[in-house]
Amino acid sequence: MSDTAQKTAILSIPGMDPIELPMLKGTLGPEVIDIRALGSHGYFTYDPGFVSTASCKSHITFIDGARGVLLYRGYPIDQLATQCDYLQVCYLLLNGDLPDNEQYREFRHRITHHTLVHEQINSLFKAFRRDSHPMAIMCGIAGALSAFYHDSLDIYDPEQRELTAMRLIAKMPTLAAMSYKYSIGQPFMFPKNSLSYAGNFLNMMFATPCEDYEVNPVIERALDRIFILHADHEQNASTSSVRIAGSSGANPYACIAAGLASLWGPAHGGANEACLRMLERIGTVERIPQYIAKAKDKNDPFRLMGFGHRVYKNYDPRAKVMRQTCHEVLNELHISNHPLLDVAMKLEEIALHDDYFIEHKLYPNVDFYSGIVLNAIGIPTNMFTVIFALARTVGWISHWIEMNEDPASRIGRPRQIYIGEAEREVKPLGERQKCVVCHPE
Ligand code: CMC
Repeated sequence: MSDTAQKTAILSIPGMDPIELPMLKGTLGPEVIDIRALGSHGYFTYDPGFVSTASCKSHITFIDGARGVLLYRGYPIDQLATQCDYLQVCYLLLNGDLPDNEQYREFRHRITHHTLVHEQINSLFKAFRRDSHPMAIMCGIAGALSAFYHDSLDIYDPEQRELTAMRLIAKMPTLAAMSYKYSIGQPFMFPKNSLSYAGNFLNMMFATPCEDYEVNPVIERALDRIFILHADHEQNASTSSVRIAGSSGANPYACIAAGLASLWGPAHGGANEACLRMLERIGTVERIPQYIAKAKDKNDPFRLMGFGHRVYKNYDPRAKVMRQTCHEVLNELHISNHPLLDVAMKLEEIALHDDYFIEHKLYPNVDFYSGIVLNAIGIPTNMFTVIFALARTVGWISHWIEMNEDPASRIGRPRQIYIGEAEREVKPLGERQKCVVCHPE
């Protein structure tokens, strides 16, 4: 990254001398205009949704949406998904490179030995109704973790930050499985250190104290792949929420709770759940055209869930890997006539050839396929976003650490264009007219 400005952009505002703005260049990606000095000229910029705004410099993940490229620390996502396991990818995201054998063994040992949660956390679950959405439980419990780990809340201490990262990566599967067990009234299962990260999660989800669960290696691998594909995605809404929350100096568990809350929305991490519910609602291949028409109708709020992405204007590279995994899992489980998959495949085919979807560059995203895989392996629909959150925790905490290490970090505080009333005077109560906002004529 070169901060020495090679080029400058000139901003010309009538009646003012031209303003010179330095141009910055990252390792990859387009040149960026550094507008930090605009404030001293009395101006700022307007950019809802931050479509044209970089909020930070980051070493972690690179996306080229036009070419469908996703790199974690420089490594292409398809290579990571096929040649590494999730814990190697966690190590990579946190530390900057893939581990060797010894580093991997040590990292796996540390994560495995942090998977237990404090016994008192069990009682927190009881405060929730049985029919609570597991994401509601996760938001509450993740924030509450800060009440349990006073030894690692100093955000200025690198060792404490690292310990927090280990704890979060290790404990999220335990908490996620607990939120499911609680909802179905079964006892919580302890983590099992002999199992892999994904295998342990499956065991905590599906074993009971009366019956062992045998981890199927194809399912274990598929879940691990889902974790890898969701591990990070640069400055998305939930990661930006974690960074904004952390920019005020908030403790890491509070920041992760902010990330969870943001992820829950159907335009972000809630899309996998929404996508499956949509496929169920469509039900049969014959009904697809009617839903395509609804998605194209500007007067209808319906959108095809699992399609489109803020940055990918080409096939989502994660969706390519997930599509293949989806077929592997369905073959393994001998599901040849999966009605949801039939609808999904036909929907994909129709949408990819439809003028509206072509013009709007709307391709299937990762959640289009991950929902089908999770459904096939027996994960209930309301757990889909929890699984996304579990996987994304390493991304959130890597960004949180990066932000805390960056001397350029400042509290996140966007500006606004004020369009409300101009200054006016308060009249005495008896002299005021009826408020027209509450009582429109
Ligand atoms: N179905 C139908 N039309 C769509 C869709 C869709 N899924 N997505 C976007 N459009 C249209 C939209 O109506 C608009 O049309 P026009 O320009 O004619 O008014 C145009 O495409 C641009 O849409 P936008 O909402 O301005 O785009 P955005 O970048 O703000 O939104 C998105 C991106 C992901 C929120 C949106 O595509 C969407 O709602 N998709 C469905 C939800 C989904 O699958 N989300 C998961 C994203 S992947 C997981 C993750 O990384 O979080």
